This record gives sequence, C-alpha cells and structure tokens, in this order.
Amino acid sequence: MKLQSETIRLRNGQTCILRSLEVEEAEKMIHFLKQAYTETAYLARYPEEVNITLEDETAYIKKLNESETDVFLTVFIDDEIIGNLGLHSISSRLKMKHRCSFGITVLKKAWGNGIGTLLLQKAKELAKTLGYEQMELEVAADNERAIALYKKMGFEETGNIPHAFKYKDGTYSDFKIMVCFFR
Ligand SMILES: CC(C)(COP(=O)(O)OP(=O)(O)OC[C@H]1O[C@@H](n2cnc3c(N)ncnc32)[C@H](O)[C@@H]1OP(=O)(O)O)[C@@H](O)C(=O)NCCC(=O)NCCS
Repeated sequence: MKLQSETIRLRNGQTCILRSLEVEEAEKMIHFLKQAYTETAYLARYPEEVNITLEDETAYIKKLNESETDVFLTVFIDDEIIGNLGLHSISSRLKMKHRCSFGITVLKKAWGNGIGTLLLQKAKELAKTLGYEQMELEVAADNERAIALYKKMGFEETGNIPHAFKYKDGTYSDFKIMVCFFR
C-alpha cells in the first residue's frame, strides 16, 4: 500500500515527513538499515548481515507499495531517513488473516522525540483500516524503551520465548510476545 506524504511537527519543534518510499530511494534505505543495525543490538541482524543488494531492496519497496495487506513507511528529516515502519500480514490463510505484525526502527540521534509513538499511532490506524483485528510483536525482554512504548500504545504481554537471541559472546535475551487487540 502506498501512502501520501504527511508533514508532522515533532516534540522538539522539528518537522518530519512520513511517507512511502520510492523505488529510486532503495540505496538510502540500505544506508539507513546499516546504520540502524550498527546502533542497536535489539534488531534481528548483526550489521554485517545487512547484505541487501540494491536490486533486492528496490524489489522489496515495489512489492510493499503494491501490496494490499502490507505497508512500508519511512520518516524523513531534512531528506534523511530517520525511521521506518513495516506492517505485515501474518498469513493470508483464512484462519489467520485477521493478524498482523510490525517492526519499527528510529535512528538513535532522534530517540525520545516522539517518532516511535508517531509510527505506532500510524501502524494502529493502518492496521484497523486494513481490517486486522490484532497487532503482534516480539521484543527483547531487556529492550525497556520499546516495551514502555508498546505498553503506552495499548499492547499487552501474552507470553515469552526463552533464549530467543543468542549473542556472539554466548549470552541470550528472551523475547516478550505482545499483542494489541482492536476488538
Ligand atoms: C524503540 C524505539 C522505536 C522508540 O523510538 P523513539 O522515537 O525513541 O520513541 P518515542 O520518542 O516516541 O518514545 C517512546 C516511549 O519510550 C519510552 N522511553 C523513552 N525514553 C526511555 C528510557 N530512557 N527508558 C525507558 N523508556 C523510555 C517512553 O515511554 C516514551 O514515551 P513518552 O515519551 O511518551 O513517555 C527506538 O528506541 C528504536 O528504534 N530502538 C532500536 C530499534 C528497536 O528496538 N526497535 C524495536 C524492536 S522490537
């Protein structure tokens, strides 16, 4: 699904633009992903695992812009990608097509400015519009900032997965499973 551009004023007075990506912006997205995966251990890849080609990313953007069930949204500040949101159908099967999942990332330099909250508000709005009945996520149990955000936005803890991440040093993080129900 492709969304029109929206201009939004942030807590610190800065303006950001929320919109779908154009395929020509694939390289910018890869750069953003490399930076994001370098900055935080809470995402699913190590930075060296961000080996997405320009061709793959271009195809991914095109596919999501044309999708009727999934959305890929980007936050720009001064023409730089600062954050993103991916909202995905969990399954097209009749028994599961009421469920969606999502992922959000904001670059560290912009944390605490309301962009995560904005992306989640948008995700919930879009999920309801697309007819989903619940949004689901998995989050590292020590990712306090993300968990606080999810609770604030109406997600409840429904379970956990022990040892979901295993780090290079041999330590583990559990995942919390959280769900936001719309009905
Ligand atoms: C999680 C993340 C998206 C939050 O983005 P953000 O732009 O900082 O979010 P916001 O500014 O809207 O703040 C969201 C909430 O986080 C919480 N928060 C802020 N600072 C915090 C801190 N130091 N400790 C704990 N919680 C904190 C607050 O509840 C805050 O809401 P409030 O400001 O209304 O009180 C961002 O930190 C991020 O991208 N992290 C790395 C990637 C990641 O972890 N993604 C989620 C994987 S499941």
